[in-house]
Amino acid sequence: MQAAPETDLLSDQQATEVLSPGVYVHTFGCQMNVYDSDQMVRSLLEEGFEPVLSPSEAELILVNTCSIREKAEQKLLSVLGVYRRYKEEGSSVLICVTGCVAQQEKARLLKKAPFVDLVVGPDNVHRIAELVRWRREENRPVVEVDFTRPDQYRFAKAVPRAGIRKASAFVTIQKGCDKACTYCIVPFTRGREVSRPYEEVLAEVERFVDAGVREISLIGQNVNCYAGGCSFSGLLHRVAATPGLERLRYATSHPSEMGEDIFEAHRSIDILCPHLHLPVQSGSDRVLQMMRREHSASDYLHKVARLRESNPGIALTTDIIVGFPGEREEDFDATMSLVEQVRFTNMFSFVYSDRPRTWACRHGDELGRVDSKTAIERLERLQARQREISSLEAGKWRGQDVEVLVEGPSKKDSSRRQGHTAHNWMAHFSATDEQAPVGAIARVRVERTSHVGLSGHLVGIVSWPMRSGDSHA
Ligand code: 5AD
Ligand code: SF4
Repeated sequence: MQAAPETDLLSDQQATEVLSPGVYVHTFGCQMNVYDSDQMVRSLLEEGFEPVLSPSEAELILVNTCSIREKAEQKLLSVLGVYRRYKEEGSSVLICVTGCVAQQEKARLLKKAPFVDLVVGPDNVHRIAELVRWRREENRPVVEVDFTRPDQYRFAKAVPRAGIRKASAFVTIQKGCDKACTYCIVPFTRGREVSRPYEEVLAEVERFVDAGVREISLIGQNVNCYAGGCSFSGLLHRVAATPGLERLRYATSHPSEMGEDIFEAHRSIDILCPHLHLPVQSGSDRVLQMMRREHSASDYLHKVARLRESNPGIALTTDIIVGFPGEREEDFDATMSLVEQVRFTNMFSFVYSDRPRTWACRHGDELGRVDSKTAIERLERLQARQREISSLEAGKWRGQDVEVLVEGPSKKDSSRRQGHTAHNWMAHFSATDEQAPVGAIARVRVERTSHVGLSGHLVGIVSWPMRSGDSHA
């Protein structure tokens, strides 16, 4: 928050000098963007900025964008339309577009939105403070979208924010993606895969755990291909040995890269959560081939079976695209059949969206585009069935006690608390802040369930959050 000026003591001139400029961040898209936004705020804090809660109070607005589907891009343009009004009303606010749309559109974005001051691609977000300074000094738009050479890429160091208690944190272990899924824009916007050295990952995990974080999610676009000085399973074992760490998760996995060492990790690492997000995209081998996914439906089912042998009861979630060019009714039936067999606890499903430069976009007409009415109808059928499966899966927890890592007040009802179970169900329960503080692991008796989660009451505390000064040794 911006400090209130002491107007009775200072002239306006003096007040402007002592106030920190405000930065407001609007984040779209995936966990990588959430992480990048955090990094940008952190480096701007070092530059003297203060985060503000409303864009109208800001001197710098960062819009960290996603271009995975066309809808995300349209949202960006409508949000920019709102921020533009501040400038029209005389504000000197700087508007900065970062992330994947910035990378995709480059200087073209300035043609569509000439009031934008900075366009910064994902490889350059760690330079945000320097670029903002540059924009102020040069007084002309800055476009910074060059990729860093993989051998020169440096990961920004995340430092927990003082005074803010968080139960969980993301730690980036890799950037970019070397896969070539034919619908996906990520390889174009985030560039080549680069792995972060494992020593840096371990140091960051330790910093977060020392600050009270109890759950770490290791993130990257294709984490199974991690190569930062050890294999991905080697990294899981090393991170899991961090004293004081209670829960470990990771995302996103590619089914074709899930090997025996990962199944073994799920069997032997007790703090590795019994949940895995494993995108399948389609249940049809024809479609999977056109998507260049490097696995068949039966390969996927085989990996699921191996995972369940290693860790019975593991919860699986997935991503599915319907209406990929050339998808026929029987292909969609194959997807419904796979969903029936796996019984995902949750699913993120999308209608295929044409993305510039991708193979599917260039060849969509030859393959035969699926009309939007058919695609939406398939999406609705899939989602309706998934809601039923999710409800049934959640229902299995009714009457049981679950361990919930407390994240804070419930967003639906601030007199209650919320958090996730190890199986990644969202859980809401009745308790006060004192009874279940952020970072505590609460035992909750589940009374009601729905397709989106669990609800119940507090039975007791399994472990309290670390107080500052506590040691893990
Ligand atoms: N159209 C629709 N969905 C897409 N995804 C990625 N690219 C597209 C696209 N062009 C989905 C995939 C991926 C998730 C992050 O977004 O399911 O796993
Ligand atoms: Fe995109 Fe495929 Fe890479 Fe995932 S693995 S980011 S879907 S190209």
